[in-house]
Amino acid sequence: MNGSNRPRALWASRFGFVLAAAGSAIGLGNIWKFPYITGQHGGGAFVLVYLACIALVGVPILMAELLIGRQGRRDAVGSFVVLERPRSPWMLVGWVGVTASFILLSFYAVVAGWSFDYVVMAARGVLQDRSPVEIEALFGALVSSPVRVIFWQGLFIVTTVAIVLGGVRGGIERCSRILMPALFVLLLLLFGRGLLSAGGVPALRFMFQADFSALSPQALLDALGHAFFTLSLGAGTMITYASYLDPEADLGGLALRIALLDTFMALLAALTIFSVAFAAGIEPGSGPGLVFQTLPILLLELPFGSVLTLLFFLLLAFAALSSSISMLEVTVAYLVDEKTWPRWRYRAGGGCGFSGRFTQCPVFQPLAGV
Ligand code: PFF
Repeated sequence: MNGSNRPRALWASRFGFVLAAAGSAIGLGNIWKFPYITGQHGGGAFVLVYLACIALVGVPILMAELLIGRQGRRDAVGSFVVLERPRSPWMLVGWVGVTASFILLSFYAVVAGWSFDYVVMAARGVLQDRSPVEIEALFGALVSSPVRVIFWQGLFIVTTVAIVLGGVRGGIERCSRILMPALFVLLLLLFGRGLLSAGGVPALRFMFQADFSALSPQALLDALGHAFFTLSLGAGTMITYASYLDPEADLGGLALRIALLDTFMALLAALTIFSVAFAAGIEPGSGPGLVFQTLPILLLELPFGSVLTLLFFLLLAFAALSSSISMLEVTVAYLVDEKTWPRWRYRAGGGCGFSGRFTQCPVFQPLAGV
């Protein structure tokens, strides 16, 4: 049994789709991971290899995934049934996507939860007037406190669920229309501030002057792996999102726009972080702690440092949220399409809540729509 005969939600516009798909692509991978792996692999040459992987491998696979979704008009598993036949071995690809996105969400929510915690710490001024050693220790205290980590991870997941419950248009698209422009403005602000600092020119040099002697085989593998991760490939996300597209959509143009936006934001984030690092005379190869340990120390040394720190962690939280909703949507679409589950359970006469009708719930009214 499947839900293929039920009316399917569509994006309100192609622009809305681009925002949602770019929202999926632009996430912790761009702002947290890309800068630190670029730092570890020595900058320019790695960036060139990464750009080649995006153009030669990422974009063609992105187009293929969009095509499967648009033609199949079902979830990541069901699209292969439509395009091939029931029980086709290709369904395995869809299954891998559903499983991968679900597992990914559990780890993603942990790091995203850290960024929620940092937003609150920055807003409360906890990071101010601290020595670098104390700021580094704050990160250690956070990750070694199960209560704090689970609380923020839980809150992040609840927020993700609330948005996905709103449906394709009323939840995901509406949210992306707010989160993506906000993300762009925040990043541009921080980028402008970073570039004006003494580290601006060294950061540009580090990112765009290629020294191929610094490249290792591991760098090539990391660039390729990251091209998949950053474009949300192989996780059923792009298949699922494209299944809500109108059948006439031009996939080449859409794929290019998504990849360009994603690459632009990654380069901007890395340049921002490296300018701040170079301004403080720090080498950018400090690994995964770069964003949570090194960056706050450096940002707080700049004028309006506490505002910049707050903006940066808000940026990280927004980026994570627009990606996590896409991960959850893969599983939700599978359950709705293949198992005929309603997105929101309805019980006649039920009140608001899990047994009530979502669109009647005043709390979620602003998000409801589809
Ligand atoms: N593209 C996201 C990032 O760069 O952070 C990560 C991601 C999102 C991977 C959604 C896979 C996915 F399905």
